[in-house]
Amino acid sequence: MRSQYCGEVNESLIDQEVTVCGWVQRRRDHGGVIFIDLRDRSGMLQVVYDPDIPDIFATAEKVRNEFVLKVTGKVRHRPEGTTNPNIPTGMIEVLGKDLEIINASETPPFVLDDENVSEELRLRYRYLDLRRPEMLQRLQLRSKITTFLRNFLDANGFIEVETPMLTRATPEGARDYLVPSRTHPGEFFALPQSPQLFKQLLMVSGMDRYFQVVRCFRDEDLRADRQPEFTQLDIETSFLDEAAIMGMMEEMMRKLFAQILEIPLHDPFPQMTYAEAMQRYGSDKPDLRIPLELVDIADVLTDVEFKVFSGPAKDPDGRVAALRLPKGGELTRKEIDDYTKYVGIFGAKGLAYIKVNEWAKGREGLQSPILKFLPDEAVFAIMERTGAEDGDLIFFGADKARIVNEALGNLRVKIGHDKGLVERGWKPLWVIDFPMFEWDEGAKRWVALHHPFTSPKEEHLELLASDPGACNSRAYDLVLNGTEVGGGSMRIYRPHVQEQVLKHLGIDDEEAQDKFGFLLDALKYGCPPHGGIAFGLDRLVMLMTGAQSIRDVMAFPKTQTASCLLTQAPSEVSDKQLKELHIRHRKPVAEQKA
Ligand code: AMO
Ligand code: AMP
Repeated sequence: MRSQYCGEVNESLIDQEVTVCGWVQRRRDHGGVIFIDLRDRSGMLQVVYDPDIPDIFATAEKVRNEFVLKVTGKVRHRPEGTTNPNIPTGMIEVLGKDLEIINASETPPFVLDDENVSEELRLRYRYLDLRRPEMLQRLQLRSKITTFLRNFLDANGFIEVETPMLTRATPEGARDYLVPSRTHPGEFFALPQSPQLFKQLLMVSGMDRYFQVVRCFRDEDLRADRQPEFTQLDIETSFLDEAAIMGMMEEMMRKLFAQILEIPLHDPFPQMTYAEAMQRYGSDKPDLRIPLELVDIADVLTDVEFKVFSGPAKDPDGRVAALRLPKGGELTRKEIDDYTKYVGIFGAKGLAYIKVNEWAKGREGLQSPILKFLPDEAVFAIMERTGAEDGDLIFFGADKARIVNEALGNLRVKIGHDKGLVERGWKPLWVIDFPMFEWDEGAKRWVALHHPFTSPKEEHLELLASDPGACNSRAYDLVLNGTEVGGGSMRIYRPHVQEQVLKHLGIDDEEAQDKFGFLLDALKYGCPPHGGIAFGLDRLVMLMTGAQSIRDVMAFPKTQTASCLLTQAPSEVSDKQLKELHIRHRKPVAEQKA
């Protein structure tokens, strides 16, 4: 149908005849001459129709935005003063000789290049939204990234193996999406939260190196970097230890960034223990581009009268930390109030602060609602430890460690962005030495910080029984600019260790047998030592394209409430379908009473 893509027509084709197909971006009438900007996925081309050929001109007059056209004409230079050096086809235009309206279009519900269209409208008409060059470029880059990763893994001896979508629940910590079985009344499949167990079984099979670009499903609260279905680059290897796996993954990332973005990443990636990350950044995915750090001050506050501080300072689960903001003295009252509200989201009951006006004057040079509660020694210690200077502001968090970490950790990132403190560039980081378990206060039991198949550190094996909270795992996360892009671990490959870990998670033998009996069995049939990792492909592409949300790098994402505005899914189904699935609706309470 066509001789060229629109974006390929350039000065090398002057005086030649071309045929192009595409969509009408814009049609302009200029006193007897019609200009059409024709768009396809390669770019935009200006086509001109003059009234010399009346019936063609009449057709051109009928053209509207987003009509699909086939255009034939001769390439010529644009007249002086009308060139556009910013686009590849900006020096030329096509003088239309023939025009076919292949298909008409209704007036689109929004103008494609309008910046202020609501996301709701964009998602409802996603197929139109995807016509925008920005969206197209992101999906193109995504395809390049995936292709690169596949090629890298193939070259390194990995085999891509597909695993079931209709399966059993995998304990990655989120709620499952369930699929009712027609043939087994009352029973359900779960969509995989990850192929974790299958990839471990493939190691038992001797596959040695496996990968998969795979859809995962998690029914959890959605955020900018979380979708109910998302894609992992899932990887597993046998007979390699964490150093070897992390080394190989680093190489993959460095080559990916070099090839796709021409960006050299640090070699090697820095590593930081979970404990250090929490202490300095209040987060296990610290954004190292932001030069603000938390400082512990509990030890100098245990005896102060101010209960807000001394309480948590004395509590073994408490934390009192300071966050110095250089030049923070400039913050307005309202800004401080807003930040106080912000930390409230994470459960903080307040946000104490000290403004350092002129430290040479001692206490007199400080300004703070809590100063009167603090003795000189405490004030001096705080000033010294935070290294505060005139003009700075120091924020404080005092509470259970978890709340202080979340509050100040998130505040650090927010202020970093608000105040333009985020350095340019890329800061990858391995976070290592995670605890095996986390105490769930609500459920009053230990839960796995990664998943229950993660191996404890060999030297911490005895701690499993004596002090589970102190037992570290052989897990590692890859963090990039404050986003967790990947997580993995060495796995348990000895049945008795697996049984012990499950027991600590409150999963008794019967439940373990019922839920993962197939894995426990497999461990008994010659399981090699193995480990792996999964990358969040959407998150990686989001970072590499500079998109604000993973929704912007997925062709058909879901909304915050996990629905699809385009297809209107989820939707009700017919009674017949429900009956086949042996499912009956529970009537809303009000109806039942009536
Ligand atoms: P994990 O649960 O850490 O590990 O998931 C791996 C990576 O997947 C991405 N991710 C998500 N991306 C978008 N939306 C979500 N809802 C979402 N949830 C997770 C993150 C994360 O780092 N089986 C293990 C991997 C292993 O141990 O090998 C697992 O799934 O970038
Ligand atoms: P209050 O004594 O509750 O009025 O608090 C005095 C100051 O301490 C106010 O600036 C509060 O914002 C702050 N504050 C209260 N609770 C906390 C807390 N848990 N952590 C940090 N600051 C707090």
